Parts: sequence; structure tokens; C-alpha cells
Amino acid sequence: MKIIPVESYEKLSRLGANIIFSQVTVKPRSVLGLATGSSPVGIYRELVARYNAGELDFSGVTTVNLDEYIGLAPDHPQSYRRFMQENLFDHVNIDPAKTFVPNGLAPDLEAECVAYDRRIDDLGGIDLQLLGIGLDGHIGFNEPDDSFCKPTHVAGLHESTIAANARFFASKNEVPRRAISMGLGSIMQARKILLVANGPAKKEIVKQAFTGPVTPRVPASILQLHPDVTVIFSEE
Ligand code: F6R
Repeated sequence: MKIIPVESYEKLSRLGANIIFSQVTVKPRSVLGLATGSSPVGIYRELVARYNAGELDFSGVTTVNLDEYIGLAPDHPQSYRRFMQENLFDHVNIDPAKTFVPNGLAPDLEAECVAYDRRIDDLGGIDLQLLGIGLDGHIGFNEPDDSFCKPTHVAGLHESTIAANARFFASKNEVPRRAISMGLGSIMQARKILLVANGPAKKEIVKQAFTGPVTPRVPASILQLHPDVTVIFSEE
């Protein structure tokens, strides 16, 4: 595991974008696992800038997102599909048919979860998975638990996650209580993992997750067992 401290969010974003840039340059038909939230926004901004500069081509790329709220339509302002459209997909030459986000309105949620993992397998697995980390150590919506949950599943959001995500909604009550999330097994099967964490509030959980014991109480700690993880942390 490589832990790279940087002094600013700008540097985190530039370095994170460099890693994705290299991945797509070396393998234009890469499968990228993507995340939402505030941490990767700067990376997406950098990638769009490089696409606009003619340096990056997304035409061969496929993306699979980590998660989606249950009950939000794809065009809901806080849906993760909409987030991805607005922050990346609408601004680059990616084929919309090759961008996958779990369907939070699926009539059969269990079947949607099984199909999502099957899709990742059919794509040949994820080449590079981008992750943020929650204040309680969650990745995707894999919240602290008694055991590591491996496949894509329906996840209940913990109180601290609901409180943290309330900043994106009119009120805390509007934050969906459930989401479809890739499981830790699905994430761990990615060939490379890039986790970005930003701000002083994340310092303690980054330390616990990457220098403490591997435990399902800190879901991100499982990444210590992955052979190719890069963590970029900015305290800014
Ligand atoms: C988002 C996701 C979440 C976030 C995490 C950190 O797709 O899966 O695990 O990465 O909640 O969010 P931010 O970056 O907003 O602090």
C-alpha cells in the first residue's frame, strides 16, 4: 500500500487524475470503478480538462459506479447517476451505454444486486477502482459491521453517514436510508485501487483504516489486504 500525503486538495486531484490518466492511456479499453461524494470532484474536473485539451480519450472506457441511493430516479438532483452525468459523463466522449450505475428504482433490488456483480464479471473485472472514505470508515456504502459483506447488496446507511450526506439535501429527513452498494468483495477484486481522502476530519479514520487492525468495524481496513492500493490524503 502506498500512502501519499499531499498539502492541498488541488494536488490530491491532480495526482489522482494522473493515475486515472495513466490507466486509460496504457489501456484505452479500461473498466473504471467510480465514486461520487465531494472527494473525487476535483479529479473529475481535472479529467474533463485533459479531455478538453485533447490529451484523454474516453471512447473505449467502461465505468461502473460504486453505489446509488434507493428510491431516487436517475435525474433526481442528488442521485449518483445525475452526479456522474454532471461531473464527468456529460463532458467527455464516453459512450453512455458503457456507464453503469446501480438502478435505485429496480423493482427487484436483490436481482439488481446479483445482476450488477454479474455485469462486472462479464466486463472482465475492474481495472482501477476509485474510492472515497466515510468518517466511520465506510467505502461505497459498506458501513461498520460484525463481518465484511462481500457482494453487491442493499445497504442501510448509518446515522453518521445520513448526517454527513444531509449537506447535499434540503434536510436530513430527505436523505434516503438505503442504497445499493458494491460489496467489499466486489471492490477487493479490482486490480488497482485508488482511495482519496480530503480534510482534517478524515485524518483519524485514515490512520485507523490503514495503520490499525483489519476489522469489519472499519470497513476500509480490508484494503490493507489488497496488493495494489494507493491512498492520497490531503489535510487541507
Ligand atoms: C460515494 C461513496 C461514499 C463516499 C464517502 C466519502 O460513491 O461510495 O463511500 O466516498 O461517503 O464521501 P465524501 O467524499 O463526500 O467525504
